[in-house]
Amino acid sequence: MNDYLKEGGPWWQRGAIYQVYLRSFKDSQGNGIGDFPGMVSKLDYLAWLGVGAVWISPFYPSPMVDFGYDVADYFDVDPVFGTLEDFDELLRRAHDLSLRVILDFVPSHTSNQHPWFMESRSSHASAKHDWYIWRDPRRSGGHPNNWLSNFGGSAWTWDDQVSRYYMHSFLPEQPDLNWRNPEVRGAMLEVLRFWLDRGVDGFRIDAIVALMKDAQFRDDPPNPNYVPGKGHPRDSLLHHHSQNHPDVHAVLRNFRSVLDEYQDKINLGEVSYRLSLDDLVAYYGKDGGLDLPMNFKLITLPWEAVAVREFVDRYEQALPSFAWPNYVLGNHDQSRVASRTGSAQARVAALLLLTMRGTPIIYYGEELGMLDADIPTHMLQDPYGIRVPGQGRDPVRSPMQWNAEAHAGFSEVEPWLPVAANYQTVNVVTQHDEATSMLNLYRQLLKYRKESQALTMGSYRSLEGAPEDCFVYFREFENRRLVIALNFSAKGKVLRMEDQASGRLVLSTHLDREELVDLRSLHLRGHEACVVEL
Ligand code: GLC
Repeated sequence: MNDYLKEGGPWWQRGAIYQVYLRSFKDSQGNGIGDFPGMVSKLDYLAWLGVGAVWISPFYPSPMVDFGYDVADYFDVDPVFGTLEDFDELLRRAHDLSLRVILDFVPSHTSNQHPWFMESRSSHASAKHDWYIWRDPRRSGGHPNNWLSNFGGSAWTWDDQVSRYYMHSFLPEQPDLNWRNPEVRGAMLEVLRFWLDRGVDGFRIDAIVALMKDAQFRDDPPNPNYVPGKGHPRDSLLHHHSQNHPDVHAVLRNFRSVLDEYQDKINLGEVSYRLSLDDLVAYYGKDGGLDLPMNFKLITLPWEAVAVREFVDRYEQALPSFAWPNYVLGNHDQSRVASRTGSAQARVAALLLLTMRGTPIIYYGEELGMLDADIPTHMLQDPYGIRVPGQGRDPVRSPMQWNAEAHAGFSEVEPWLPVAANYQTVNVVTQHDEATSMLNLYRQLLKYRKESQALTMGSYRSLEGAPEDCFVYFREFENRRLVIALNFSAKGKVLRMEDQASGRLVLSTHLDREELVDLRSLHLRGHEACVVEL
């Protein structure tokens, strides 16, 4: 074990990271959109909950075609969210509460309204033309190659002004930057320094697999497993040349070296949902990659004990010795965990997330068991959902449910997206007072995790021969040993560990028992998971 782990490791290995989708967290200005002063007013809540850091989704000036992931100025705050001074105030108040602040950094593309793109498209001869990815049509005419946008359709859009195509991995309003141009790299590294100088604690880097593409612009090969009409049209091709290019690792080393000009900074990154385990762990990089390439497998795997255990075991084995694991149950792009697994299993998922080895990443509202909201078609906002029906992300971005009052206490006016129907029972105020609520489960788990070296620093080993539909593992640090047992089914199960005697059950998802238990015959109720100290 590394020495620094013995000392407790860097801050991001000890605390959980909480994702704030700012638009939906707390409105203070009365425009139905969350903002910095609103978030400041809820920092005490986050400190009470017990998370260690907040990651804030993009708040930079933006036409908001992709709700901030289309940045028009990397050095300021969009007025809808407040001002730079409001940001500084948030940072100061968060730090006073020992909460670290992680920003969303969107390097792969800008808004088409960014002055760089305007200049780039003004003429072939412009000094910034090569800052974006421009190509002429194929000799036979048409798109330069067959690359597809993640949001549907071709990745190329024709621009009349310069009579060329430009590339966009996402919307046409999000042209991709040309990371092979050293001036682009230089300019973007300055963005990191600007925010690091203000005191931020690190970055979540957006859409990393889209950063670098094949320098020869070769066609992507067809995906032999694609069934037309089923799944996402983008999956008709294997993105061998347009995504996850090996040259991306050199860019990540550039990011790392800037972070290393400062102290104790983190970079976590959004890599693809479809990466192989080898490609995922390669993002840790031997000489300066990501601290945490986000692991989305708990989102994409079937919610079954065997599948989850099998994955965790393989992940643990695949991680290089210097690499620190992480787990994500949900985010602003994916259906919420309670909607995917059901509300009872969402509690099991919470216990899993907070007892695994590695950094847990929590999406706002997960601590309440918030569900995907029903959004009527005429209220859809997400351009992705409008372009590719069924793929919309609005349901997972509904306003945070603070209380049972109008608009769930999120805003005094109609919010930008409707509040989920269950807000009168599923909200912070109600759950705060309910001893066995999801909120109190999260809080207790976070507290226990913080105090338990076995959880924050201990080793992981899964148990062979667990009952069907159960996943059981040990976490161990020096002489402190825990058994964690999760029942993924609605039926009661009996765990028989013949070589163990009694232990102390300290936490159950049901929050209704703390007792000595006999591990030769430990009864788990349906949908129950628990932590037992040996
Ligand atoms: C990432 C973000 C997503 C956004 C996309 C384009 O995948 O998580 O919300 O739409 O990048 O920036």
